[in-house]
Amino acid sequence: MKTLIKNGTVVNATGSGAADVIIDGETIAAVLAPGSTLLGFDLEANVDTVIDAAGKYVIPGGIDAHTHMQMPFGGTEASDTFETGTRAAAHGGTTSIVDFVVQYAGENVLDQYALWQQKAAGECAIDYGFHQILSDVQDSSLTAMDELVAEGVSSFKLFMAYKGVFLSDDGQIVKAMQKAASNGSMIMMHAENGSVIDLLVQQAVAAGNTTPYYHGLTRPWQAEEEATHRAIMLAHLTGAPLYVVHVSAKQAVEQIATARDRGQNVFGETCPQYLYLSLEDQLGATSEEWGDFEGAKWVCSTPLRSKHEGHQHHMWQSLRTNDIQMVSTDHCPFCMKGQKDMGLGNFSKIPNGIGSVEHRMDLLYQGVVDGQLSLERWVEVTSVTPARMFGMYGKKGVIQPGADGDIVVYDPNGHTSIGIGEGKTHHMNMDYSAWEGYEIDGHVDTVLSRGSVVVDDNRYLGRKGDGKYIKRGLSQYLI
Ligand code: URP
Ligand code: ZN
Ligand code: ZN
Repeated sequence: MKTLIKNGTVVNATGSGAADVIIDGETIAAVLAPGSTLLGFDLEANVDTVIDAAGKYVIPGGIDAHTHMQMPFGGTEASDTFETGTRAAAHGGTTSIVDFVVQYAGENVLDQYALWQQKAAGECAIDYGFHQILSDVQDSSLTAMDELVAEGVSSFKLFMAYKGVFLSDDGQIVKAMQKAASNGSMIMMHAENGSVIDLLVQQAVAAGNTTPYYHGLTRPWQAEEEATHRAIMLAHLTGAPLYVVHVSAKQAVEQIATARDRGQNVFGETCPQYLYLSLEDQLGATSEEWGDFEGAKWVCSTPLRSKHEGHQHHMWQSLRTNDIQMVSTDHCPFCMKGQKDMGLGNFSKIPNGIGSVEHRMDLLYQGVVDGQLSLERWVEVTSVTPARMFGMYGKKGVIQPGADGDIVVYDPNGHTSIGIGEGKTHHMNMDYSAWEGYEIDGHVDTVLSRGSVVVDDNRYLGRKGDGKYIKRGLSQYLI
């Protein structure tokens, strides 16, 4: 199967220009000057499919490096399965995800890894890799870290919050970091001070402050900044590289920027919710159905921040200046009915998470339209950097010969209405959209995953099981 994508503007991180792209089987075979005949050979007559991308961008498929499909969490399970979540991702121009294998205290890391491989196998619409969550950092977990790196799982997430669920104490964190420093893997950190948060939550609930808004108030930026600083210091002590996930506070960004200025291998990820949504949106949210519990739709951790404190503006700026390197979704969807509503009367029982895997490419493209990012930076923070950060670049995250044919044809003159109603885009397995009413000045037209068209003009043409496991290497930002 040979495909020609002609007349488009190919966008890579290093620049963009008119070019034709030829995909042979699963792989990009050539990127040529427009209309090239290649030694007199008529390309168009010799391919099976021609996609006319005139007036459109041809970009490397999106890579969402932070998703939680069917994750057991908060007394329930994330509502997207590997099947539904990856199909929704494909609709939105994401062609690879990196999901998290979960290890709770007492569980064996390698058993959990085998279980997650089983969950995903034969289910995914697009390619998928894994990070490994470590909670209690047993001795067997440390040896498992070496084995997992050989399996293509080269990044390990630790938590400084969620006591009794995920939290690792500082000693456990240091042990895992020492191992990462020796085997070249990446430590990912959920950086929030869990003890402080637990106390504030207890006090709020005791005082009768139980609505979703208090979720944000009891997870203040100081708890994020402090934990980010502590994680950076522990990484410095051990020599481990550190990737701080879902950064929402500008003060946490400053900690990351300072560490980077010092020459430390510290990286930061933010998410669309921290670029667009605020604590005040959550406070003001109300509906006939849910009253002031409406705000539960946006309960996630780290939480939405106050728009009066300048976090959102700082986050866009940090993306431009590379103080923050990339954008993932932290896709962790729950339905309002039967899941989020577990927290009616007590916000601390609301399962934490927002679903966005389908909308990240569009929401960040709107940043281009709004003058927040350049076209190339859009591609960089959504595809190129995730590929490099997590050892996939060359195959993923670039349009060049030899790369996988993971390509999105994006129409800057198209339009996307996000939400669950008629004529809207929602394909995630959720009974609401956290992005209801967002209008995007652009549209994902055609999505190819390893050379096959999986989405065309909003129609899904792929099959479950098309997606293959990505055996990742070490981060390409580390020497
Ligand atoms: O609210 C969130 N972020 N839920 C998913 C778990 C995590 O901490 O990433
Ligand atoms: Zn987290
Ligand atoms: Zn997460």
